[in-house]
Amino acid sequence: MKVEGKIYHSCYFHSTKVKVGRGTWINTGCFFDNLLTEVSIGENCGIGQQVMFCMNTHEIGTAEMRASTKIQAPIKVGNGVWIGTRAVILPGVSIADGCVIAAGAVVTRDTEPNGLYAGVPARRIKDLP
Ligand SMILES: CC(C)(COP(=O)(O)OP(=O)(O)OC[C@H]1O[C@@H](n2cnc3c(N)ncnc32)[C@H](O)[C@@H]1OP(=O)(O)O)[C@@H](O)C(=O)NCCC(=O)NCCS
Repeated sequence: MKVEGKIYHSCYFHSTKVKVGRGTWINTGCFFDNLLTEVSIGENCGIGQQVMFCMNTHEIGTAEMRASTKIQAPIKVGNGVWIGTRAVILPGVSIADGCVIAAGAVVTRDTEPNGLYAGVPARRIKDLP
């Protein structure tokens, strides 16, 4: 675990494969579900309350067991990003520098820099200067 920013109380880390850059704060109750894969958060980011970094998923199996083979993929957050409360970041996603993720968004794909992304699934709704 390499933490140069601030982590507030009640955050849960399932492993130590976490990097948090300088000037970044992680607000209360965030969840990092990353047994084997890494989550890396850049510099000067603001992470709202109860954001879920979800690094695990499953292949969709047969009707007998839909949650089939486990898949893990890292999450990367660039510099200067602000993630609103209760957003969900799915496995393998990279959030580019300067993005804002609105409260409650579910980010299923990589984002391009300097955009406001909102909704389920998250879509780019605004270009930011
Ligand atoms: C996204 C946010 C930053 C607002 O940004 P903004 O540029 O001022 O956006 P606006 O309020 O002008 O809204 C732009 C559009 O996005 C929509 N929108 C705003 N927040 C949204 C959200 N969380 N989810 C979905 N859509 C949202 C608005 O309804 C509006 O849609 P419209 O153009 O169809 O009317 C704010 O709504 C937000 O989610 N803030 C996070 C707050 C938070 O989590 N705080 C605690 C942690 S620090």
